[in-house]
Amino acid sequence: MILGIESTAHTFGVAVVENGKILSNIKDSYTTESGGIIPIEAAKHHSFVCDDIYKRVLKDAGISEDKIQAVAISNAPGLAPCLLEGLKFAKKIAKKLHVPLVPVNHCVAHLEIGKLTGAKDPVLLYTSGANTQIIAYASGKYRVFGETLDLGVGNFIDTFGRYLGLGFPAGPKIDKIARKGNYIELPYSIKGMDIAFSGILTKLRDMIESGKYKREDLAYSMQETIFVMLVEAAERALAHTGKKELLLGGGVGCNSRLQEMCRIMCKERKAKFFCPEKSLLVDNA
Ligand code: ATP
Ligand code: FE2
Repeated sequence: MILGIESTAHTFGVAVVENGKILSNIKDSYTTESGGIIPIEAAKHHSFVCDDIYKRVLKDAGISEDKIQAVAISNAPGLAPCLLEGLKFAKKIAKKLHVPLVPVNHCVAHLEIGKLTGAKDPVLLYTSGANTQIIAYASGKYRVFGETLDLGVGNFIDTFGRYLGLGFPAGPKIDKIARKGNYIELPYSIKGMDIAFSGILTKLRDMIESGKYKREDLAYSMQETIFVMLVEAAERALAHTGKKELLLGGGVGCNSRLQEMCRIMCKERKAKFFCPEKSLLVDNA
């Protein structure tokens, strides 16, 4: 019976897992009306909600505190004030219950949660806020086959959203806005299995500032361009490793169009596509 705690960035979450089964998984996220995450403000959010979420999780899981055998905390990477807030809370509980405190790497957790889908030996397309990597397990280790050379795809989308005056997180809003758009050609930047976003972001910022384009067209074209880059890199990794499964992970994996593109690519090359449910794609305990 393990208590999980997540606090690396925007989200504070607590969960209870018994023998690999999720009994409860509750979170509360820091959001903004406009502008991005202010780390100190996000940390204040976490300290404000932590006790309440902990109580709700115990009730929802139907267990008492004394059943907990270990406390797992996502200890890195993340925003320093948020990490500290989570660690403080996790230490308090572990000390009170006299159970071990187990550090968990946040990125590995984003990948490992995908095992719940039944994927056995996939190429992983890891698309979260600060990270974008194409990873596969080879010779007993996770190996990075390709990655972003600058921004993480989620941070790219959220920055584009900020230029449009959308609050944080912008990804889910852009997912909807893009459905009504038409295609405008944008720069395309992929080298082997590595990708770069910053030039495309500058181009989009200039296009927004020119006032000549509709935001739905920009949103649609942005998604079509960068998701094809991700899917192209993932397909190359499938071809290179000879693996037959693709597993999407990280919060951007919630995007309906990215999921659709992955599904089409996998169908065309007779690979299987796996994607965890949304609540397990975004940050969670
Ligand atoms: P990291 O795990 O790299 O440290 P993170 O913890 O911020 O980053 P997640 O919580 O996995 O990442 O994902 C958050 C990101 O997911 C945000 O950038 C958000 O905009 C994006 N996102 C969520 N839903 C969607 C969607 N439907 N379409 C596109 N992006 C989305
Ligand atoms: Fe994350």
